[in-house]
Amino acid sequence: MVASDIDTEPMHEHVVVKRGTRSGLPIVVAVHSTALGQAIGGCRIAHYPHWRDGFTDALRLSAAMSDKCALAGLPNGGGKTVVALPPDATPDAAARRALLHDVGDVIAGLAGAYATGPDVGTGPDDMLTIAERTPHAFCRPVDAGGSGDSSEHTAVGVLAALRALCTERFGSADLSARSFAVLGLGRVGGHVLRMLADAGATLVAGDIDETRRALADAAGAAWAGPQDCLTADVDVLVPAALGGLLTARSVPTLRCAAIAGPANNQLDAPATAGLLSRHGVLWAPDVVVSAGGIIHATAVELHHETAAQAAARVHGIADTLAGILRTARATGSTPAEAARSRARQRLRRPPPR
Ligand code: PHE
Repeated sequence: MVASDIDTEPMHEHVVVKRGTRSGLPIVVAVHSTALGQAIGGCRIAHYPHWRDGFTDALRLSAAMSDKCALAGLPNGGGKTVVALPPDATPDAAARRALLHDVGDVIAGLAGAYATGPDVGTGPDDMLTIAERTPHAFCRPVDAGGSGDSSEHTAVGVLAALRALCTERFGSADLSARSFAVLGLGRVGGHVLRMLADAGATLVAGDIDETRRALADAAGAAWAGPQDCLTADVDVLVPAALGGLLTARSVPTLRCAAIAGPANNQLDAPATAGLLSRHGVLWAPDVVVSAGGIIHATAVELHHETAAQAAARVHGIADTLAGILRTARATGSTPAEAARSRARQRLRRPPPR
């Protein structure tokens, strides 16, 4: 982040950093904005060199969630929880439970300003454990009354975004005519790969975890290491792992024509959006592409919509992205700038509740 961002962006409303009373682990809950309504954002449990790195990540991720909610037209703001695991720690079942209860207590202390959901390192069962301490947890398992695993809905949104991106960049939404490199085969990336295979796309896939090669084989995708996947000679790169992969260093090595994927915070810094444009790569803002999970969960759990209504909202990502790419083209700005200004507009004029 550069100084000008700090000067012009409103600061976070509320950030809690607490050493878990049971787990002893650092827990960060960042509430970026409640201007449009309750702040929502997943709970990430991940390894960091130092808890301060987890803190910085929580600040960035929660700010991005405000844009994600605003652009998705949700009556919600952005937040995020990060539990920073020391590099060598792997909590066992009991330690994990303790840590999730610690998270639940911190969220309970925010009195409804923030609700959590699944993210990197957490899933529906973890939401159920958090819910033992606070009602503010989305995506509990369906048999426990929640909307369940959000990863498939996120992937459906990614496919909708890819069709809109291909229409803008290649003049056709037909995915079978295109090649894709899917980088990261976790829960969302795995679904995206399978859906692209079903659509008849030509595929390359990669992950730091070699055991996920079986997923690539099953989808008929060529296997590549993460680095080769990033620089693969394909039409579209689909980042589906951790963020920060698009940098001043990596952009010049890209050989794709366009990028859209569910990884959060793909750009290391705002200026990288300009580098991508100058390198001839059309980048779909991750805050738009990755919104399927949160759109589905809020549609079902807050608005009590049917599966079909929720699915229609997730498919709306295609129109949102198409509009942003069109605006960017018409105004000569980057898609990142077009998305930001649209989010700002919405934040200035909150819809009636
Ligand atoms: N990890 C999700 C995201 O980044 C967060 C989320 C999903 C929150 C579903 C609530 C429900 O969008």
